[in-house]
Amino acid sequence: MKNGFHVFLAAFVALGISWLGFVLGSILQLGVEGQATVLQSSDLYPVQRPGAATMGLQVYRAEGCAACHTEQIRQEGVACDVVLTAMGNNPAAVKKAVAGLGAQISDATNALPKTVLSRVSKAGADAATASISSAGGTAEIHIVATGPDIARGWGVRGSVARDYLWDDPVQLGNLRAGPDLANVGARLGNVTWQLLHLYAPQSVVKGSAMPPFRFLFRVEKIGGAPSPDALQLPKPFAPAPGYEVVPTRDARNLAAYLVSLHADVPLFEAPFTPEVSTK
Ligand code: HEC
Repeated sequence: MKNGFHVFLAAFVALGISWLGFVLGSILQLGVEGQATVLQSSDLYPVQRPGAATMGLQVYRAEGCAACHTEQIRQEGVACDVVLTAMGNNPAAVKKAVAGLGAQISDATNALPKTVLSRVSKAGADAATASISSAGGTAEIHIVATGPDIARGWGVRGSVARDYLWDDPVQLGNLRAGPDLANVGARLGNVTWQLLHLYAPQSVVKGSAMPPFRFLFRVEKIGGAPSPDALQLPKPFAPAPGYEVVPTRDARNLAAYLVSLHADVPLFEAPFTPEVSTK
């Protein structure tokens, strides 16, 4: 073994470079990830999930929900929306400018704010706001995240590493037999709905292909008075008369976890303009 030392050195360098790339590189990029301030707000994100939801993550893992569901919203890019916020002193000129952009505003006063251009480039949005403001109106540019997952309504922006700060283990998933759940708490934030869906998916989603998780519930004989926790199931799914379906603690924790899944705030690394409800 004349070249023993060289072989050792070559192996050492090869393994050393991989370690630098895979281990040190990831730690430097993500190891210091912490809470951040939500854009244009003083709120911190993400905050620790409530206790029941933290335990619910373990139920989610144990039941293998990640075999059919992902928790990662993909984003392809960003686009701009132009929103008209005020007509100014010369509504006729603003209407003309807006018509020039291919949009219509019917009744100027009550229809504001109104999106007059959607999903255009930054240059297009700048040109539109310039033409509206030279007519005397006021317009804002809103940033919108784009991509198929967002078009499906699964989220408002792509998932970023910070979203998973408190989750251990992270349940990214890689197969989508069902919808992505990264932001499910925002669209289905009702614990009762979640419990009904877990016990009998078809009782709330017609023709659902999701398997029921009945073993997370107990079917009990109604004693003196019905339990306040009992599910109010529609006819074909209801238990025999005199019986009721009561969620176990696992079911309640899992439902708490599902409604805690929110990835709907704008961050530095994933910006967008949140919908502001019009007063
Ligand atoms: C065999 C695949 C499969 C498994 C396993 C599975 N699901 Fe589903 N899930 C689906 C399908 C398909 C849908 C869409 C139909 C529906 O909404 O019921 C769905 C829908 C959902 C929805 C509604 C999402 C929405 O946006 O409408 C939630 C919440 C959900 N599943 C949670 C769970 C949880 C929690 C588990 C684990 C206990 C789980 N799923 C396990 C297939 C699955």
